[in-house]
Amino acid sequence: MKKRYLLLLLSVFGISASAQKSIDQRVSELLSKMTLEEKVGQLVQYSGFEYATGPQNSNSATVLDEIKKGKVGSMLNVMGAEETRSFQKLALQSRLKIPLLFGQDVIHGYRTTFPVNLGQAASWDLGLIEKSERIAATEASAYGIHWTFAPMVDIARDPRWGRVMEGSGEDTYLGTQIGVARIKGFQGKGLGSLDAVMACAKHFAAYGAAVGGRDYNSVDMSLRQLNETYLPPFKAVAEAGAATFMNSFNDINGIPATANKYILRNLLKDQWNYKGFVVSDWGSIGEMIAHGYAKDKTEAAEKAILAGSDMDMESHVYMTELPKLVKEGKVDVKFIDDAARRILTKKFEMGLFDDPFRFSNEKRQKEQLNNQENRKFGREFGSKSMVLLKNQNNILPLSKSTKTIALIGPFGKETTANHGFWSVAFKDDNQRIITQFDGIKNQLDKHSTLLYAKGCNADDQDRSMFAEAVETAKKADVVIMTLGEGHAMSGEAKSRSNLHFSGVQEELLKEIAKTGKPIVLMVNAGRPLVFDWAADNIPAIVYTWWLGTEAGNSIADVLFGTVNPAGKLPMTFPRTEGQIPVYYNHYNTGRPAKNPTDRNYVSAYIDLDNTPKFPFGYGLSYTQFKYSDMTLNSSDLKGNQTLNISVNLSNTGSYDGEEVVQLYIRDLFGKVVRPVKELKGFQKIFLKKGESRNINFKLTPEDLKFFDDELNYDWESGEFDIMIGTNSQDVQTKRINWVK
Ligand code: NOJ
Repeated sequence: MKKRYLLLLLSVFGISASAQKSIDQRVSELLSKMTLEEKVGQLVQYSGFEYATGPQNSNSATVLDEIKKGKVGSMLNVMGAEETRSFQKLALQSRLKIPLLFGQDVIHGYRTTFPVNLGQAASWDLGLIEKSERIAATEASAYGIHWTFAPMVDIARDPRWGRVMEGSGEDTYLGTQIGVARIKGFQGKGLGSLDAVMACAKHFAAYGAAVGGRDYNSVDMSLRQLNETYLPPFKAVAEAGAATFMNSFNDINGIPATANKYILRNLLKDQWNYKGFVVSDWGSIGEMIAHGYAKDKTEAAEKAILAGSDMDMESHVYMTELPKLVKEGKVDVKFIDDAARRILTKKFEMGLFDDPFRFSNEKRQKEQLNNQENRKFGREFGSKSMVLLKNQNNILPLSKSTKTIALIGPFGKETTANHGFWSVAFKDDNQRIITQFDGIKNQLDKHSTLLYAKGCNADDQDRSMFAEAVETAKKADVVIMTLGEGHAMSGEAKSRSNLHFSGVQEELLKEIAKTGKPIVLMVNAGRPLVFDWAADNIPAIVYTWWLGTEAGNSIADVLFGTVNPAGKLPMTFPRTEGQIPVYYNHYNTGRPAKNPTDRNYVSAYIDLDNTPKFPFGYGLSYTQFKYSDMTLNSSDLKGNQTLNISVNLSNTGSYDGEEVVQLYIRDLFGKVVRPVKELKGFQKIFLKKGESRNINFKLTPEDLKFFDDELNYDWESGEFDIMIGTNSQDVQTKRINWVK
């Protein structure tokens, strides 16, 4: 049975069993010819020199020389057919001619950029997400890239952490589904296909729970919480065939993830039987000295390799320390062999031993340079990632014949910024980016006018442009304000303590509001921001995130109603920074507030309601959806029965549109406390105006399982609330009893 399953898996991922066998043999043969130094060389990764995505210490001449000597297994940040080819040529001068692997952060698109990942998650559209990674892989592989450092499947509940822009938000279920879709997209028909890149699940593990939302900070959580909330997406993507994993910078239970045997050896490599390899994060092996976990580089190397970190990204530790450690008998060579075997296996699977230059193809690269089909998709994906937060008096969609529209704010004519953080393949390529101004202008009737005023910069205190902006607003029938945070204010090392619109943007908004003109606010950001005043006083608000190459067109499509927005928030939006962390699937406490304003010796702030500004799963449409007739096939279930849940969904408004129907459960009593709500399913449904449909979900005991305090994973008999609705707050509920 097991063997048949394995054969099936191998064929799904494009490697036939016989091919795999010969790869195993070829790796063994190669390993038997390699010196210790050459094996260790395979475990070494350096960054290219043109740009770096971390603090670089490499000396280019030394690195080039080491590549020729077979002392480097992989490079990151080397891209383009020509450049990868030239590095590969150096590797082929080495004694055993082992090709290099080229890695790169391909995070939300490559030449064509797509919305930042948190924005993508707001589409709740697994098909679009998978397709975007398919396109990213096709483009990146044509540029000689073999391996992306994505997807980031870190669950994140703290919007102060700048890297929330790179993940799928706060929910484990949604994050898991999206993670798997990304693996399928990146790896396509399987490693070895010319348009597939190896994926890398990162950051293993719990990086998203950095204390205080401060990047690179410690993590302090129970192993139960780790297993329950943070690890499931990693396990799912390992099962989906993710070729590699990356360590995280944080410690877990007092041990840096890079040398954490519990997660790397016990869980990943033993229990989950993972056969890919683990790369450290940039410098994370060496950083264990600063953590206070290794007294020097030698001890850092020893601890990392023993724990199961296979490749050293930019720590410069394995190359110098591992041979010494093996010779001194401190590290058994079997650990080096195992790591080298895992890495070489991937090189064989990618077909690099058959043709080391197969991905460095100038012709393919040229075809992908400005691929119109990919851009078309980017435009659609952008519009489907936007979230309509407010639309008082149906201000939106705007008419294309509105006489005069004013676009005001620092982002209206941005170019590169539209890409958002992590778009390394885009330097000096501005002319291809559709600005918000151009996108809107292109769709306005020719007799209408689009005015523009910057109003202020994104990140300083300069108010000198206010007056001009106010005068511009006065001339318009409708004002579109484009505010938020700068594109480089979220991302790696971009934690913020103040999540308001940066600089003087909120002041500008208040000045424009004084004109009395109707305002549509677009919020550009990589994370949930805090904008209480705007949310209460501005009639229409659209969250645009950073949408990528086609941003301006996507935005215009939504503003003018060519696309009816259907995005839903993948993270809870707080009222103030002081409310953070605030997430929908919290525990109830012994003294829950009876209502949002209850302060009577309950778990609450004396100066703030308990509810968030916008809940998880929230998002409006230009049309209205009505939920009715929620029914269950039974409210008393036994053992392995299936619960069928059905609800009627009607489009009662005046536009065709999509709705994300969300299913939540609550396990009322347990041997450990359970969240007040947990997402267990969702479906994105398109309904024409006036159309109704029954939407069906199924739950089995598998969906009720959780980790107890001894890390047993099972479900319990008892009562459960089944909830279905349009967001995590607005649900219909039915109670059931389910016994084992
Ligand atoms: C550090 C980041 O944490 C990681 O996500 C990224 O892949 C590497 N740098 C390489 O750029």
